[in-house]
Amino acid sequence: MNNLQYEFGMVGLGVMGRNLMLNIADHNFSVIGLDLDPLKAKVVETEAGEGKPVRGTTSIEEFVQSIRKPRAIMLLVPAGNPVDAVIASLVPLLEPGDIVIDGGNSYFPDTERRVVTLEEKGIHFFGMGVSGGEKGARYGPSMMPGGNRDAYERLRPIFEAIAAKVDGEPCVAYLGSGSAGNYVKMVHNGIEYGIMQLISEAYDLLRRGVGLNDDELQAVFQEWNQSELQSFLIEITAEILKKVDQDTGKRLVSVISDRARSKGTGKWTSQNAMDLQVPVPTIDTAVLMRDISKYKEERVEASKLLPNKALEVAFDGDRQELVNQMRNAFYFAMISTYAQGLAQLTVASEAYNYGLRLNEVAKIWRGGCIIRAVCLNDIRAAYEKNPQLPNLLLDPKVGGDLLDRQLAMRAILKLSIDKGIAMPAFMSSLAYFDAYRTEVLPTNLIQAQRDYFGAHTYERIDREGIFHTEW
Ligand code: 6PG
Repeated sequence: MNNLQYEFGMVGLGVMGRNLMLNIADHNFSVIGLDLDPLKAKVVETEAGEGKPVRGTTSIEEFVQSIRKPRAIMLLVPAGNPVDAVIASLVPLLEPGDIVIDGGNSYFPDTERRVVTLEEKGIHFFGMGVSGGEKGARYGPSMMPGGNRDAYERLRPIFEAIAAKVDGEPCVAYLGSGSAGNYVKMVHNGIEYGIMQLISEAYDLLRRGVGLNDDELQAVFQEWNQSELQSFLIEITAEILKKVDQDTGKRLVSVISDRARSKGTGKWTSQNAMDLQVPVPTIDTAVLMRDISKYKEERVEASKLLPNKALEVAFDGDRQELVNQMRNAFYFAMISTYAQGLAQLTVASEAYNYGLRLNEVAKIWRGGCIIRAVCLNDIRAAYEKNPQLPNLLLDPKVGGDLLDRQLAMRAILKLSIDKGIAMPAFMSSLAYFDAYRTEVLPTNLIQAQRDYFGAHTYERIDREGIFHTEW
């Protein structure tokens, strides 16, 4: 296939890059891959098999010359310097109108900078979040592209073909200009962190607080995946809880170290939310719980010095009722987490001129990605009905669903407090709801204090103007 003009080019033939190439070829688009490692360049051809329009090369000149113009070239290399290095080596060979797509989890200000630098040369740069891991890349990811709208038309047929489908609709859509795609993926990951933390808290209370054994726990998550909680993360949790460790005969999860790692996207979501002054407390909590998990030695010492006596008393309530309450509470907390992330997108879209349409975001999150969940149908409907919705909680259907479940949430949190089991993400999710729906918050007192000690002034509820009091 040496003389073919390939429809698409891929740089970085690690497992994600390779799998995306095979996915592209499955949909009858020819694709050429570039990797400096000759083995990787070869493997993709072998994996594709005879007759597929797939080629791997180690020559950047051959790579660029073999792609149909305007060229569409995607990078799947580690975020940060490697992206800049690849761009620098490609740019001298590219022509105006060509498109470079970064498919990694790049930090959105980096994308913004690259868009501007490449646009000066007439080259369109796209930051595109790709979610769904290795399997998603192979059989249908969710893709979040941002960049030049007109240039997107060159990419659309390929992306729509390879994306996951839900009810026949592809889980990809043009999201907006500049770094919109990376930003949306960053918030996707923030929500991912939040929901993963919520699942771990639910698992902990059911296990240590209520005393469910391994099989019972597994059955709960399996059942939940047939309910309104149906989602990828609940589904894989049920799978994970089943897995037995060959060496010890125990459940594998119970022999996995509790020090959680991270690559940064959750933290970026929280950091940027603070910059934009958008509260995302469940996501913040998820980030900080991964941090607490790293202090293993201190926690071991503290567990001896500050023992949790509440756990010595067995739970004597109705276990089935508690499991039902947990299901409702989880739904509440999960929706609260989506609401926070989507509110962040609303503010960011305004601040960075992305022009996001949240119904589209909800649509493309319904399949392929890590936070795919059946509840995204309701979320999408809410933004379809009212594209200006400032917060998901203001949608009558979604808000009503939470009102119906708030007592379950409170019951679960009461038990967690009695048992001394930390459920900070559940707590944050409820506090977000309670604060958001409060007409008068006690922040009037904070304003008074600021004026008292610093003459920072305050506004009044009964008169226009700025006031200061000699307290
Ligand atoms: C996805 C995932 C993916 C990756 C996370 C893991 O959407 O496919 O979010 O991007 O698995 O970045 O992030 P941490 O290592 O920070 O947990």
